[in-house]
Formats: sequence, C-alpha cells, structure tokens
Amino acid sequence: MAKPVQIEVWNPKGKYRVVSTKPMPGTRWINLLIEQDCRVEICTQKKTILSVEDIIALIGDKCDGVIGQLTEDWGETLFAALSRAGGTAFSNMAVGYNNVDVNAANKYGVAVGNTPGVLTETTAELAASLSLAAARRIVEADEFMRAGLYDGWLPHLFVGNLLKGQTVGVIGAGRIGSAYARMMVEGFKMNLIYYDLYQATRLEKFVTGYGQFLKANGEQPVTWRRAATMDEVLQEADVISLHPVLDKTTYHLINKERLATMKKEAILVNCSRGPVIDEVALVEHLKQNPMFRVGLDVFEDERYMKPGLADMKNAIVVPHIASASKWTREGMATLAALNVLGKIKGYPVWGDPNRVEPFLNENAPPPAASPSIVNSKALGLPVSKL
Ligand code: DGY
Repeated sequence: MAKPVQIEVWNPKGKYRVVSTKPMPGTRWINLLIEQDCRVEICTQKKTILSVEDIIALIGDKCDGVIGQLTEDWGETLFAALSRAGGTAFSNMAVGYNNVDVNAANKYGVAVGNTPGVLTETTAELAASLSLAAARRIVEADEFMRAGLYDGWLPHLFVGNLLKGQTVGVIGAGRIGSAYARMMVEGFKMNLIYYDLYQATRLEKFVTGYGQFLKANGEQPVTWRRAATMDEVLQEADVISLHPVLDKTTYHLINKERLATMKKEAILVNCSRGPVIDEVALVEHLKQNPMFRVGLDVFEDERYMKPGLADMKNAIVVPHIASASKWTREGMATLAALNVLGKIKGYPVWGDPNRVEPFLNENAPPPAASPSIVNSKALGLPVSKL
C-alpha cells in the first residue's frame, strides 16, 4: 500500500481529475483547468523529486491526466498506473522529455505533452549569461569581493577574455541554439561557426545582414560558417555552447578526446542536458587547463556534481535554471495544463507547437487545442485547422 502524499485541492466538485506533481508558477494554469470543469490536485509534499511510488499514490484509482516534471521517471509503470485510473493525458512541464518513455505511453494510449516555444529566449539568455560570466570571471571576482580580499585596483586582477572579434561555436542550431548565436553575434560582434544536421538558413541570413550593416558603418564585419563536423566547431571556436537533444548519439558527445582538441582558453557552456558531457573527463580537463572555463546549468547525475567540480575556480555552476524567468515558467505551466486539458476534452493538436502566443495571451481564451503533443502521430490524434 503506497503512503498518502500531501495535496492541495482546487474545485473539488470538478468532473475531470487532473493531478500536478508539483506546485507550478502562476495561477492562470489552475484557472484554465477549473473553468473547464477540472478538479485540480497539486502535490505539496516537501520532497524535491517524487518517486514512482509517490506518483502512483497521487494518480490513485481515478485520474484523467497528470502534469509532471523532468525529474520524474515516466516509464511503463506510471503509464500503466495512469491508464488503469482511466487517464489518457500526461504533460511534462519542460520542452525536453528524455525522462519519458514515449513508447510506453503509446502502448497505453496516453498523449505526452511538452512545452516548446516559450523557453527559447530565456534559455538562450542564460547560455549567454554563463558565457559572459565565464569570460569575465564574474563569480570568482564576486567571491573575492565578499571575502574582503579587494585591496585596490591592480593591472592583473581578474583578467579575462574579450569576446569581440572572437568566434562563437554552436552545436545544435535549432531555436535555442540560434537565439543564443544571434545574441552573441549581435551583442558582442563575434563570428559564428555552427554544426547542425540542418542548415540554419535564418541564422545565416541574420549574420550576413548584420555583417553588412557593420561593414557599411566602417566596422569589421561578422562572419558565419556552417561546419561539416562538430569537431571543427570544437577546434575553432573560442566560446562553445551545446544545444543538442540528449539521446544515444549525443551521450558523452564531449569526452576526454574532444576536450583535448579544444583551445586551451576556450569557454564551454551547457544548458542542454548533463550527460552530453563526460563530467569526470571535464573535471580532469579543468584541473589540467586553468584557463579553460565552463558554465554549466545541467549535470550528468543531477542533482549531484562529479567529485572535484565544485572546487574548480574555472567552473561556473547553476542549478538547472535556464528556463527560470517568470514569464517562461508561468507559460510552461499554462502550456502543460492545456496539453492535458486538450486531450481530456478531445480537442485536436495545435499545428505548430512553437507558435504558442495564442495560448499565452492572458486577455483571450486559449485556442481549443493541445499546444504540443509529441506522440500525436503515433496515437492518430487530429490536428487543429486553426
Ligand atoms: C526543459 O524544459 O527541458 C528545460 O531543461 C527546463 O529548464
């Protein structure tokens, strides 16, 4: 018998029972569910990561849909439990869904939602912040000040890297990677080298146009190049940001051998998923190369850091906060709730999961559609004509 889990209930008489495994930012997502006759149960248990057993207890005997988090293990056991409780909808409050076994969801006919479109700029801004903080040694300098060690200006104090005219490398030039590249190119006049299986045409046009603008104003134009291999990016770039999806092909993409090919003073930023980097190899590389710096938002065994990482002055570490702006997190909650609601109500799936503005406009009711269902084809769900 699973132990009961603490919950908060909204609209107890609602016809559809929707469970959220965590309190989520904002209240619009709760109101949207209540307006559509949902009883909303929010887990308030003081436990950061819920176990499969906790979530089974939350699902109970009758549950129409669940909004879950990227820290939870959504596999066969949970989808079976949800299906037994009559549920047909699950949404991660995240764009990434490497914690979800989509094949298991398909087996039980459960729709799986995610929240793209609303995280792009926020995540790119954090990658840019980490790049800057690493280049200018902001965290080390801040710690130095707070420790009362500042004795006065010195020529060598916290000398870092100038970004202007250097090369920014992007691995994975999808929406977030491209937004980051634009910020670094336009903001700091960096040249771009990128690697992606697909050509980032809009990004290329942007850099070309900006380069022409600079030239017309008598400045050195910025340039771009699409690399034929990822290794070219690692070897040539001064600042590299990783934006791949985590799967078997990208696990330990950055390993000991690849780190060794990078510039000694390069900066490596990761706001994608931790296992993309072999963190043990990274710690060793940081020890051997004190001028090499990293900015990490994600870790291989989250929430842990590999031994030694926390001691490295040339590493900046933050706790998976790339999407943590108020607007984005409230938007993610809304999209996740609407994914679940849409499936429960039998709405079609929105045609373009990245075009999320109509769902986020607080002055109008959202479209009658699920914003983003990743297994809609496998389940044969209809697509919205709106
Ligand atoms: C996501 O949505 O996948 C992000 O990692 C959350 O910050």
